[in-house]
Amino acid sequence: MTTPASPKTATDNGAPVKAKGLEGVTALDSGISFIDGQAGTLIYRGYTIEDLARNASFEEVAYLLWHGDLPKQSQLDELNAQFRAARTVHPDIIDHLRHHTPKDAVPMAALRTALSMLALYDEEAEDMSPEANARKAVRLTAKLPTLLAAFDRIRKGKEPVAPKQEGSTAFDFLYMLNGEEPGPAAEEIMDAALVLHAEHGLNASTFAARVIGATLSDMYSAVVGAMGALKGPLHGGANIEVMGMLLDIDATSADTKTYIEQKLADKEKIMGIGHRVYKTLDPRAVILRGMLEGLSDEKGERKWLEMSDTIRQTVKDAKGLEANVDFYSASVYYLLGIERDLYTPIFAMSRMTGWTAHLLEQWEDNRLIRPRAGYNGPRNKTVGPIAER
Ligand code: COA
Repeated sequence: MTTPASPKTATDNGAPVKAKGLEGVTALDSGISFIDGQAGTLIYRGYTIEDLARNASFEEVAYLLWHGDLPKQSQLDELNAQFRAARTVHPDIIDHLRHHTPKDAVPMAALRTALSMLALYDEEAEDMSPEANARKAVRLTAKLPTLLAAFDRIRKGKEPVAPKQEGSTAFDFLYMLNGEEPGPAAEEIMDAALVLHAEHGLNASTFAARVIGATLSDMYSAVVGAMGALKGPLHGGANIEVMGMLLDIDATSADTKTYIEQKLADKEKIMGIGHRVYKTLDPRAVILRGMLEGLSDEKGERKWLEMSDTIRQTVKDAKGLEANVDFYSASVYYLLGIERDLYTPIFAMSRMTGWTAHLLEQWEDNRLIRPRAGYNGPRNKTVGPIAER
């Protein structure tokens, strides 16, 4: 015998559920970043994203997110020395990428696995003291670029390139990826992209990290969970899909506006457009568009910019939705010659700073994160003999 489900979805203590997808819910207080979704502004610890993208390096931003303010020169020098010293990864993990990771593995999956392996070789992995966790945040941020570059080279049949252990994160990543030193323009663009992606409040991956962290599980477990969340096309995976769409339009010589209108008519989502918090243009998209424009002129290749602008205008006219961070970053990375499926892992390299800053903050005043589900299943059923089911 079944009784019909309660007509109104309710939490199991009877309160009505008001926020599907937790939209509009303030789950906790944080001093790390603030998004004004109506005004289209973003600050990291009080500094606007425009100011930071123009005037601060990724390493300075990492320090800012972890420590609450920008570093003095001596503090930056110390952090840079720590980053450089920590970029090398244990040879067993490179071996795993070489011999036990399929060449056609999705890079986010390969990276998620390698990230998890790092814990096995970190003597401090289970040490939950604030000092040890702060050191792990640095090591995790330092090692992710090395893992990604190594995987990309191995899958192409090339030898991994050891970190040069000099220069910025952006410099060493591009060096390890391509086997040659990047020019100053490429390094500068990559550095700014890392600044723009470093932190964004309680987005899905950061929330996932905090939920895991709040159980007092370790930092590695929390960031591996965050990687899983970032991989999804509704979150960080969107930049890969944006470039797929642009390449598809180009390969089929489709009219961009007609192509997008057809997708909208088919009720398909246009990747890189729309945001849960921004009700206007994402300020990071404005900065990335500027970077794309400069890069397009430098390379004499404006088609991706023009196509992107047409897509953005078409969706804006049809649905009133605007571009998010993933929209223009796709073409920026493409013009830098970076393989499409590396875009989300590069996002992860940067967001590692935000994830770990949130974990450090979570552990300063921890409480288990445990919401309720609205129960909308049946009630009052009884177990009958199996032959009668
Ligand atoms: N293309 C077309 N329509 C979109 C859209 C998009 N990218 N994003 C949202 N919409 C529409 C939905 O179809 C829905 O329309 P409807 O009310 O007519 O059915 C409405 O806008 C609300 O969408 P919903 O998915 O409920 O909003 P959300 O707040 O849950 O979604 C995102 C936020 C980011 C998941 C969503 O905008 C999206 O999927 N964007 C594409 C993926 C992406 O770029 N993600 C990266 C985010 S930084």
